[in-house]
Amino acid sequence: MGKSNGDRVAIVAGVRTPFAKQGTAFKQLTALDLGKLAVAELLSRTALKPNEIDQLVYGQVIPSVSVPNIAREIVLGIDLPRRIEAYSVSRACTTSYQSTVNVAESIMAGVIDVGIAGGADSASDIPMVASKHLSDALVGASRTRGALGKLGALRGLSARDLVPIPPALKEYSTGLTMGESAEKMAKENGISRQAQDEFAHRSHTLAAQAWADGRMARDVMTTYVPPKYEPFAEDNLVRKDSTLDAYAKLKPVFDRKFGTITAGNSSPLTDGASALLVMRESKAKSLGYEPLGYVKSYAFTAVDPSEQLLMAPAYAAPLALDRADLKLKNMDLVDLHEAFAAQVLSNTQAFESDTFAREKLGRDKKLGTLDWERVNVLGGSIALGHPFAATGARQILHTLRELRRRGGEFALCTACAAGGLGAAMVLEAA
Ligand SMILES: CC(C)(COP(=O)(O)OP(=O)(O)OC[C@H]1O[C@@H](n2cnc3c(N)ncnc32)[C@H](O)[C@@H]1OP(=O)(O)O)[C@@H](O)C(=O)NCCC(=O)NCCS
Repeated sequence: MGKSNGDRVAIVAGVRTPFAKQGTAFKQLTALDLGKLAVAELLSRTALKPNEIDQLVYGQVIPSVSVPNIAREIVLGIDLPRRIEAYSVSRACTTSYQSTVNVAESIMAGVIDVGIAGGADSASDIPMVASKHLSDALVGASRTRGALGKLGALRGLSARDLVPIPPALKEYSTGLTMGESAEKMAKENGISRQAQDEFAHRSHTLAAQAWADGRMARDVMTTYVPPKYEPFAEDNLVRKDSTLDAYAKLKPVFDRKFGTITAGNSSPLTDGASALLVMRESKAKSLGYEPLGYVKSYAFTAVDPSEQLLMAPAYAAPLALDRADLKLKNMDLVDLHEAFAAQVLSNTQAFESDTFAREKLGRDKKLGTLDWERVNVLGGSIALGHPFAATGARQILHTLRELRRRGGEFALCTACAAGGLGAAMVLEAA
């Protein structure tokens, strides 16, 4: 897997915007604005000639009514050659795994040499939808002639019909929010409040360290945002002064009476974008680039959302490792998307469980035992934030950079997503 005529799929470079808490530094920007910033910065940092780009695949999870194809609007919006074909993907929190894999697959199929992948989301720019009654009435009015006819079509609307409906972080099939689904997982898997809080505290502490010692800054661009155009260069959700005691004081949000999931041990609603430059290995070399690393294998899986919604990484990781012909113990780094501490700990518990392996995966033995010195070493989505479509590429980028810094060979990245979806990717250092 991951090769085309002996050529590997290279991740040549990447960049991301700082991640901003909803309604803060990026509140004036749309996902498209953020995506354009990230892709333009990637091209400027790599000095890639735009004519070399064959394809741009980009993702957005919170839909935009005015921009149905963010990928193409990025091409047009930053004045890239009009001939660059571009399409958008959406796979909830695993969206930029999908955009990266789509470019990788085009390379493996031999149809392109160079592509850009990534994703952006703005939780500050949320589309509000009209109620069904209001939208029916407006469509009716638009088809009717004359002021009286139009008024007639709107007759019968109540004040309630006029209230806009915001999109919910709810599973369509089960009606449960992500947080409620994570509560279910915490309860069924026996993940204690304390374990969740300790994990969240760890995430903030490690992310703060990575910012302090310069490991994070290198791949994060400085943005200048209207109206003041002041530089914004650092994630604004990471708590540099995280203390474990503070987590214990927070009230549960999704099950106020018996729950364990709080604002502290959940990923927050976030704005941000990321982008990766992906190339055929021989093309990268011919253009004089030294890749960050290679995509060795990947897997997408799904579970029944009415069971444990965010467990699919426990299925995707073994599949991606099998496809790479590697074991968990060969991984120098493991990076799990942190939707909730309860979800990470449920998945890592499954990695280490013979029973889960036998009953759910049909395997003799557990995936392996994690060395926590190698897990989410730069923190994760709880501390950094989680602009849904940007997270996968953020994980791939920082993991490859850290893998190189440590002189490691292989890394595993995984993420869970709405719909019971999951992704895993095995990366190989250059
Ligand atoms: C959990 C959630 C509802 C919290 O939203 P919120 O209430 O706006 O969160 P805030 O950041 O305002 O935090 C609430 C409070 O907790 C405090 N807090 C949050 N994290 C903290 C921490 N690590 N340490 C100490 N205090 C913390 C905040 O300071 C704030 O305190 P205040 O009310 O005194 O200002 C929201 O982040 C959410 O919906 N997250 C889930 C997103 C999701 O579904 N992700 C998964 C997708 S796969």
